[in-house]
Amino acid sequence: MKGVAPLFIGIFGTFAFSWAGLVAIPNAQIGHLDPQMDEEGNDAYPAPESGMVERGRRIYAANGCVYCHSQQVRPAYAGTDIDRKWGTRRSAPRDYIFERPAMLGRMRMGPDLANVGKRAPVDDENAPPPGSTQPTTAAQPPPAPAGGTTAPGSATAAEQPAPGGSPAAPPVPAAGQASPAPVTTAPTANVAAAPTTTAITGEGGQNEPLQYSAGWHHRHLYNPRSITADSTMPSFRFLYEKRRVTGEPSAEAVKISGPGAPEAGWEIVPTYDAKCLVAYLMSLDQSHDLKEVKSATPPSPPAPGNAVK
Ligand code: HEC
Repeated sequence: MKGVAPLFIGIFGTFAFSWAGLVAIPNAQIGHLDPQMDEEGNDAYPAPESGMVERGRRIYAANGCVYCHSQQVRPAYAGTDIDRKWGTRRSAPRDYIFERPAMLGRMRMGPDLANVGKRAPVDDENAPPPGSTQPTTAAQPPPAPAGGTTAPGSATAAEQPAPGGSPAAPPVPAAGQASPAPVTTAPTANVAAAPTTTAITGEGGQNEPLQYSAGWHHRHLYNPRSITADSTMPSFRFLYEKRRVTGEPSAEAVKISGPGAPEAGWEIVPTYDAKCLVAYLMSLDQSHDLKEVKSATPPSPPAPGNAVK
């Protein structure tokens, strides 16, 4: 039994040392960050989020978006995130101070979303871009299955005790999606494009929502393949309601044509949860300068004397 004490002390010391290095010291360094302000006390960043955004974050967690999407931009020396235009600077701890928990993400099956709100078009989302023509969709819309949109009630998603817990099982693509969009017949389809490039019918046209506008997000969530033909993102149709048009068509109806579009006389409208989720996505923006982030560089070209570390 000689040597039990040193063994015990060794094991204890190992744990104590890692706890200090991985928990105690980082917490002392970055555990009490406040929003950054300019000298006059204005321009606070980050700012607390609205209730809708907060609810949207829970829906994001409950639906497992975090398993496929990260929300952290790596510095230029540690990856190509900035080259990919996922951000203009790396993410910093201060970006997350109002997030409990921070949705840093596990893997990148899809693009990083740290700045997806920043990418939203600034102008009126309904204004058709100049010179754009309505893309003709060759694919015939398959008859939408009756009750195809009555998936698990959206309330279940929101009631999940959000953070970190096991997410609602990613929904299986609804029956209407079982036959993948015929990629070859899509007009000007760049079939070789990586799934992360939004290619096919994303923007332009009278009826097409501008990329990253709220309407675009709704359409993408409702049917990702209506935007990226080979998307592997599941569709979140249960966050939408299909209903008969009574009187005027709803202004917030999802603008979708081709496969997955509702028959005449029907429309697809976002539930409150879907609106919160999109409000959350559109709030994601880490483009504000932070004084501790030295590697912030303009995307292109780097100004002379502003060398990239
Ligand atoms: C199985 C993995 C997976 C899950 C789960 C998933 N996504 Fe995606 N997502 C992708 C992939 C792959 C893409 C790229 C193709 C595309 O645009 O559809 C993508 C693209 C996106 C985009 C467009 C990003 C860009 O820069 O163009 C947004 C926004 C998005 N997802 C939001 C969500 C939200 C919100 C959820 C949860 C409700 C979610 N995703 C769940 C895989 C996933």
